[in-house]
Amino acid sequence: MRKKIVAGNWKCNTSLQEGVELAKAVNNAVAEKGAKDVTVVLGVPFTHITKVVENVDTDRINVSSQNCAAEAKGAFTGEVAASMVKSTGASHVILGHSERRDYYNETSEILNKKVALALENGLTPIYCCGEALEIREANKQNEFVKQQLEETIFNLSAEDFSKIVIAYEPIWAIGTGVTASTEQAQDTLAYIRSIIAEKFGNEIAEATSILYGGSCNPKNASELFSQKDIDGGLIGGASLKADDFLAIINAY
Ligand code: PGA
Repeated sequence: MRKKIVAGNWKCNTSLQEGVELAKAVNNAVAEKGAKDVTVVLGVPFTHITKVVENVDTDRINVSSQNCAAEAKGAFTGEVAASMVKSTGASHVILGHSERRDYYNETSEILNKKVALALENGLTPIYCCGEALEIREANKQNEFVKQQLEETIFNLSAEDFSKIVIAYEPIWAIGTGVTASTEQAQDTLAYIRSIIAEKFGNEIAEATSILYGGSCNPKNASELFSQKDIDGGLIGGASLKADDFLAIINAY
């Protein structure tokens, strides 16, 4: 059975103190009322990871960075290496988010290096893919996402690919309040699973957790999560409120 995962992506939000309070609130709410069979991940700013790890039950709450460097270490001022992220007690790293691809020019070549370093250091990549509005309007989303995956994580060995979580996030749905319809999300995730099956076989395809992201909220989460191929969500805005995030965790 593949894992159900609800991952928060705090992006560039919260001071350290606010972040620790939010993490504690999520931790307490999940301990008290959180669905036991859902893997919960908090994607927090680098500066917050250590403190968040100290303030949550890491058996229940996984902590993630939102990026890592494309180099192992050395003279790369301002970068944070995968090994450093791992050494803080984080277990996951969000990679390939469209904001990083678009605003920081992260290419497939760069992402391949980041994924490799994340895996080498025992971090689970939450690997994002998804198309812009004009591609969806031209009905070319499947070709686009296929290319994103073929240029990157489809080049991994089957063993390494099995360690990846995929998040499909249509860019037009991120932070816009426009959610993909349940049918659009399910269709694209089913398509992604089908190309995983072609590449790595059915067993791996059936075991891969594929998340939907993009304006997922307490109102639409249960319909989305009831779909056969949707294994959870990557949650931006709604992960900044403990109650909303808990409601999404319990939306299954
Ligand atoms: P959103 O962001 O939930 O605010 O749309 C999702 C994401 O970017 O991961």
